[in-house]
Amino acid sequence: MAQTVLVVFGTRPEAIKMFPVVHALKADGRFRVVTCVSAQHRGMLDQVLAIAGIVPDHDLDLMRPDQTLDGLTAALLTGLGRVMDAEKPDWVVVQGDTATAMAGALAAYYRKIRVAHVEAGLRSHNIYHPWPEEVNRKIIGTIAALHFAPTETSAAALRAENVAPATIHVTGNTVIDALQWVTARIAAEPALASGLAEIERRFAGKRIIGVTSHRRENFGGGLEAIAQAIRTIAEARPDVALVFPVHPNPNVHAVMDEALAGLANVALIEPLDYPHFARLIALSEIMLTDSGGVQEEAPALGKPVLVMRETTERPEGVEAGTARLVGTDKERIVTEIFTLLDDKAAYSAMARAHNPFGDGHAAARITELLHNAG
Ligand code: UD1
Ligand code: UDP
Repeated sequence: MAQTVLVVFGTRPEAIKMFPVVHALKADGRFRVVTCVSAQHRGMLDQVLAIAGIVPDHDLDLMRPDQTLDGLTAALLTGLGRVMDAEKPDWVVVQGDTATAMAGALAAYYRKIRVAHVEAGLRSHNIYHPWPEEVNRKIIGTIAALHFAPTETSAAALRAENVAPATIHVTGNTVIDALQWVTARIAAEPALASGLAEIERRFAGKRIIGVTSHRRENFGGGLEAIAQAIRTIAEARPDVALVFPVHPNPNVHAVMDEALAGLANVALIEPLDYPHFARLIALSEIMLTDSGGVQEEAPALGKPVLVMRETTERPEGVEAGTARLVGTDKERIVTEIFTLLDDKAAYSAMARAHNPFGDGHAAARITELLHNAG
């Protein structure tokens, strides 16, 4: 009898990293695949569902404006639990470190349903950076019966926590599967990513820096410093344009709108769908970000990435020399950007296409491992 696999996700990055798994499981007749979105994110999730062609079987529609972690987690636990009671899956598959992933694992555990964790074993060893994701990952790691570690580094982190070695598998990160998939889609259908034409015209001849920022631990002082760094770079460098799709979290929007209004060479734009964001990375000389996923994608596309965090649970890019941690100190961010803009040797040392995170076949491995686990 086909195993029932309940795939649970809720935010933009989970959807991007989970759609290759959903595609692979659905293409494999050995599974009954049920998808459940918490819709912890709404607009940004729907952008990914649309491009990936996924119509969820269950949609909890949980996003509320400026939601709190406890209110969200409570709603997730009861909502996801109800879906599990109705579907009675053999496996619950969760991805990464969000509230949805953590609550999905916990609701499954309360029902003694086995959990498979995609992107397992990432650790910064600091429970407040990233916050609350480091603890979410540890909770999921305690519960999961199968751990799909993207790299040998993440597998080693799990072994160091005494996770049974036979349950840990290095699969690569599914984000590389997603990036390759969307790149092929754009090649076949360029109109999917043609919506940046106006930005491209407006900033013709300028050197583009792509920016994203949204981390909860940076709310307050960190985001303000990031905004001031962007302002300083924009004012000092008319040869540069900064393109910043702003996260819809009101805590992010308010700071960026206030600090960066009226700068001719800064474009604050709505979140881009995945094909357009891939296009933005391709157009950019440098990526400046506090995002997890962008740290993995930029090296794959040969773009230097400056990471506005104090620590990272993704040291592979830093070790490979394609990513650098610059924290959230304004002067440091500005200095590092100027160095990359002006020092050709420093730039080319970082601008190597390098893929420590995967080879694009992670979802196929995950599917096989789930089948073998029975
Ligand atoms: C969440 C994840 C974080 C991940 C990030 C990716 C947790 C605890 N955090 O953080 O790990 O890096 O997603 O973006 O799970 N909003 C919208 N529209 C959207 C999405 C969000 O308006 O499509 C606004 C809403 O006001 C919402 C707020 O953003 O309440 C915060 O969303 P939430 O998912 O709680 O936190 P993120 O900071 O996005
Ligand atoms: N992304 C996107 N549109 C945007 C900004 C980001 O599609 O406007 C993608 C990006 O390519 C990456 C993912 O969203 O795959 C990262 O999501 P986010 O930064 O919200 O979360 P994190 O990775 O930090 O958890």
